[in-house]
Amino acid sequence: CLPHTDHIEINIQPDLQWELKREDILLHERIDEGFFGQVFRADLIKCQNGKKEKIDAAVKMLKGTRTEKDMLDLLTEMDQMKRIGKHKNIINLLGVCTQNGILWLVTEYAQQGNLRDYLRRNRPLEMQYHLTDPTSRLVPPARSQPLSSKDLMSAAYQVVRGMEYLAQKKCVHRDLAARNVLVTDDYVMKIADFGLARDIRCNDYYRKHTRGHLPYKWMALEAMADNIFTHATDVWSFGVLLWEIFTLGGSPYPGVKTNELVRFLRQGERLEHPQFASPELYRLMRDCWEESPQKRPKFRQLVEDLDRMLAESS
Ligand code: ADE
Repeated sequence: CLPHTDHIEINIQPDLQWELKREDILLHERIDEGFFGQVFRADLIKCQNGKKEKIDAAVKMLKGTRTEKDMLDLLTEMDQMKRIGKHKNIINLLGVCTQNGILWLVTEYAQQGNLRDYLRRNRPLEMQYHLTDPTSRLVPPARSQPLSSKDLMSAAYQVVRGMEYLAQKKCVHRDLAARNVLVTDDYVMKIADFGLARDIRCNDYYRKHTRGHLPYKWMALEAMADNIFTHATDVWSFGVLLWEIFTLGGSPYPGVKTNELVRFLRQGERLEHPQFASPELYRLMRDCWEESPQKRPKFRQLVEDLDRMLAESS
C-alpha cells in the first residue's frame, strides 16, 4: 500500500452529468465509520420543475488520514456506481463533488439503517435478550407490527432482485451480508457498498469489519481458500444472508473459529435450519452452499424461486 501523504493533488475533470454544488448539500450527523471512510446523513437541495426540493442523502468521504490510494479507490467507487446505473434495490448514486481536493460521494439515504440491526430491533419480545449497542447512532423505533413470514420473504426477494441486477451489470459484490443491505422507511431493501474497490491483498478492506463479524463467515469455500470471487461466490453469501433473515439477524457459526471454518465446510457441515424458514427455503440455502460453484443456482433462478415462495407466503 502507498504511504500516507499530507497534500494530495489529483486534478479531476468534473463530470457535468453528476457534479453537485457543495452548497446544495447540508451535512448532518455521522452515521457510519470505517477505517478510512465515513458517511454522514445529509439534505440535498435539488431544483425540480423550477421548485426547490429537499432530498434525504448520505455523503461518503475520506477521513483525515487519507492516502492517494484511498482517493483513487473512492473515485473508482464513483465510476462504478455511475456505470452500474439505477435499480430500486440498490443504493443509487445522486451525485458527486470532486473539486478542490475533497471527494464526496452522494447517495440515497436509507432511514432504517442496515438489515441486520433492523431484524434484531424487530424481533418478537421473547427473542430480545440482547441489548442494542449503546454507542450506535439514534435508532429508529421498532415497527408497530411484528415482522411476518411474508415480510421476511419480501426482504429476501428484494435483495435477490438487486443482486440479479448487479450480476447483469457484471458487478461482483464480494461482501454481501445483512449488514450491507439498507432498509428505507417504506421497507425497500437496498444493497450498499457494491462499488467498493476491494483490494484484498492490501488487507485494509477487512478493517472495516468490527465487532467480531468477519466476512469469512459469508465467504464461499473457494473465496476463502483461493481468493476467487465470482457471481457464484456472491450466491453463497446470499445463502448466508437468507439464513440471517430467517434467524432474524442471527450470527452464523457462533462456535466455529476462523481457522476451523474451511475444514468444517469441507466436511460437508453447513449452517442449520433457521427457525423461521420453510423446508423448501432451507433447501434453497443449501443449494447456495454447494461446494462446486457450478452446482449453485444463478441469481436469475433464485429470483424466480423466491418470487413464487413470496406469492405463496402469508
Ligand atoms: N450507512 C451507510 N450508508 C448509508 C445510507 N446510504 N443510508 C443509511 N445509512 C447508511
